[in-house]
Amino acid sequence: MKKKMVCYIVMAALMLSLLVGCSSEKISDSTPESVAYSSYSDVKIGICIYQLADNFMSLFSNELVSYLVSKGFSRDNIILLGSANNDSVQLSQVEELIAGGAKALIINPVNSSVAHSITDLAASHNIPLVYINREPSGDEENRWESYQLDVCYVVCDARQSGIYQGELLLTLGNKALDRNGDGKIQYFMIEGAPENIDAGYRTLYSVSTLKNADLQLDCLLDEVGNWDCATAQLIVRKGIKEGLIPEVIICNNDAMALGAIEAVEQAGLKPGEDVYVVGVDALPEAIEMVQEGKLLGTVYNDYVLQSHLAADAAINYLQGNGNEHYIGCDYVKVNRDNAQDIIDAINNKK
Ligand code: BGC
Repeated sequence: MKKKMVCYIVMAALMLSLLVGCSSEKISDSTPESVAYSSYSDVKIGICIYQLADNFMSLFSNELVSYLVSKGFSRDNIILLGSANNDSVQLSQVEELIAGGAKALIINPVNSSVAHSITDLAASHNIPLVYINREPSGDEENRWESYQLDVCYVVCDARQSGIYQGELLLTLGNKALDRNGDGKIQYFMIEGAPENIDAGYRTLYSVSTLKNADLQLDCLLDEVGNWDCATAQLIVRKGIKEGLIPEVIICNNDAMALGAIEAVEQAGLKPGEDVYVVGVDALPEAIEMVQEGKLLGTVYNDYVLQSHLAADAAINYLQGNGNEHYIGCDYVKVNRDNAQDIIDAINNKK
């Protein structure tokens, strides 16, 4: 019922703006709440993370909270909620945050489709909104532009991370990768989550980078590991037990790469010698594995920069200033040669 009401309000506002021929005006005709604040200590900010147990999102959200505190927000006014990977839970959390007086929202959507309703809720209350990590659909982003909504999205382009995974493997050359010398690279693909844009792009671009370099590929297994270490471990263990022997394991993230490495070792194979594993994120444990030679490489998913950009975007909105609707940042390839530099760079940026 509440959702319907919000829909009606937003639709009415949209129709009004069309009638007066000013589709570029704000979605609501009331004065935006964004006023310049001289201090943020009393300003409430709401954050929803699709699932707090996610290794990467937990690093991201910790950094986001500390950065907001460093910018003058009081820890008590930063409401950080985990959405239990459930979009209706997330939607009611957004309603509660708005009802509780949040002046800005930073949301890691459970999936791209829930973003539409979240945007409706925020826009109808004039609350600025910053999406992080999971991309809302293209139509949704067009709406922010058309109606000049105070909504933006901060992210690294997942295509780049897939390309970098492919390039990390290519540094070894075809001969080293093709351990059994049959002219093809037997590989396992462990994907993040179904219908997740990052997962789709990483899968597609890692493989196409290898194909574009004229490698012959033989996919032995392609399964969804839900971004999770234990699930990936089970998948790889089962695959090897069934007699599938990969030369390469490509994982959409590091948590799953760590699980894959464990399964490879349990099967009596040597990661980094018998099987080459690559991940994405540069989790601290994964960088250690790179230094030990068990993980061939990973791709730094710059959570420090992304969390700072997201907080800065929210602050810009609170100050009455706008943001670009898409705020991007770059991934960085991590191998044994630069692993220590990456650790140092992460620590320096915090
Ligand atoms: C990260 C994953 C994480 C996912 C959550 C991705 O960008 O690489 O580790 O699980 O985001 O959405």
